[in-house]
Amino acid sequence: MEKVINMIKENIEKALNNQINAEIYSAYLYLSMAAYFHSINLPGFANWMRVQTQEELMHTMKFYDHINERGGRVYLSTIEGPPTEWKSPLEAFEAAYKHEQKVTKMINDLVDLALKEGDHATNIFLQWFVTEQIEEEASTNDVVQRLKLMGDMGNGLFMIDRELAQRQFNLPTVLTQE
Ligand code: FEO
Repeated sequence: MEKVINMIKENIEKALNNQINAEIYSAYLYLSMAAYFHSINLPGFANWMRVQTQEELMHTMKFYDHINERGGRVYLSTIEGPPTEWKSPLEAFEAAYKHEQKVTKMINDLVDLALKEGDHATNIFLQWFVTEQIEEEASTNDVVQRLKLMGDMGNGLFMIDRELAQRQFNLPTVLTQE
């Protein structure tokens, strides 16, 4: 391969590959939650999780492209199996919110590493994720709060289910262009 100017350093490459694993794990976790919601007849909740799965795969591809564009190499590794059952919709969404908080910390740690290594390109690349994580935490926590307010069963639950059925995945233009 032609040598890329401003080629990625080995430790950054490793950390970004680790994040690819974390993003695919996120997709796996949310697909598992979608399957759980299907199993308890909440198709709206399942739809929301399916869309979230697609978002996570989109995040994965952003890291994939960044590593390649910087002359690095993508290495895929074993994906941990996600949990398959939760006690209630509330427990599942609380787990999703907690997971997003963990991902936010991972992104912040990556920014710290990029700054320490003087990798401005990776730092700028990561800024999109810093903003995205605000939304990721807010959207999962929003459902947690609504489930607490309206109840984790009965009419309140079915109203939230109808609302979550509306969520759609919008492919970002950055991924539709060559
Ligand atoms: Fe890829 Fe939900 O963060």
